[in-house]
Amino acid sequence: MSETDVVAFSVENRIAWVKFNRPEKRNCMNPTLNRRMMEVLDELEFRDDVGVLVLSGEGTAWSAGMDLKEYFRETEAQGLGATRKAQRESYGWWRRLRWYQKPTIAMVNGWCFGGGYGPLFACDLAFAAEEAQFGLSEINWGILPGGGATKVAVELLSFRNAMYHAMMGENVDGKTAAAWGLVNEAVPLAKLRDRVTDVANALLKKNPVALKATKDAIRRVGEMTYENAEDYLVRAQEAANSYDNDGRKEGIRQFIDEKSYKPGLGAYRL
Ligand code: ACO
Repeated sequence: MSETDVVAFSVENRIAWVKFNRPEKRNCMNPTLNRRMMEVLDELEFRDDVGVLVLSGEGTAWSAGMDLKEYFRETEAQGLGATRKAQRESYGWWRRLRWYQKPTIAMVNGWCFGGGYGPLFACDLAFAAEEAQFGLSEINWGILPGGGATKVAVELLSFRNAMYHAMMGENVDGKTAAAWGLVNEAVPLAKLRDRVTDVANALLKKNPVALKATKDAIRRVGEMTYENAEDYLVRAQEAANSYDNDGRKEGIRQFIDEKSYKPGLGAYRL
């Protein structure tokens, strides 16, 4: 397999389908994959024919987390500099994904472990197969959930579920992951792609400037006081207006003057 093949992608009807593509290694993330994923994200982010990005995995796994051999053992054997570089590369593309220009959806088709929680959280929305299995398996091989995984657990789960999940190293299926808030929803694997396509198509009908401002706002205000959030949101909308001042005016016009839609029931015509 060539180095570029570890990530597969295609663009169909404005949806970029990006896949972890090391199925024979359950899509665990080695340095090659991490570097390639950053390149692919770069390539797709500002393409006009891309409106939504979906991240899924080839084969039976979404991602079996970090590659214990190549990311940990072999990198550590090269010293601290190599370890830090490998960390920068993996954390780097997850961070890039957290603040991606386009809406992002994790389509979790199978195994999702440890380091996989980084890109899982990085995606704005997440849909899982009921058959998928999620685990913070770090404790099972003797480390804490690093690389942001503990933070993801605390952000998304209740205190008790986060503690149990991280300390016990037991897996939960897609349904439980949805009940816990780790993903939005779980559907049978056979229906997963259709459901994600429907969600992506709905997002494609919304104002893209407003979507980017909204997803950033959701991530940012969590750690602000109410007063700071109020101020940030005023400024964020005003900044969005500088890119797209006509969009919201058109949204108001179609509702108030044209009476062609109701914002409470759907989106205006782009
Ligand atoms: N790191 C390195 N190699 C891996 C990883 C991984 N995370 N996951 C799977 N592989 C490799 C296996 O070593 C095996 O390689 P081989 O064919 O050369 O022997 C191949 O992928 C297939 O794996 P199997 O274990 O044979 O696949 P199976 O379908 O039976 O099991 C499962 C899948 C449950 C995902 C299992 O591979 C597994 O437990 N993987 C590790 C999951 C994990 O704990 N990841 C680390 C999380 S912690 C962190 O990311 C910091």
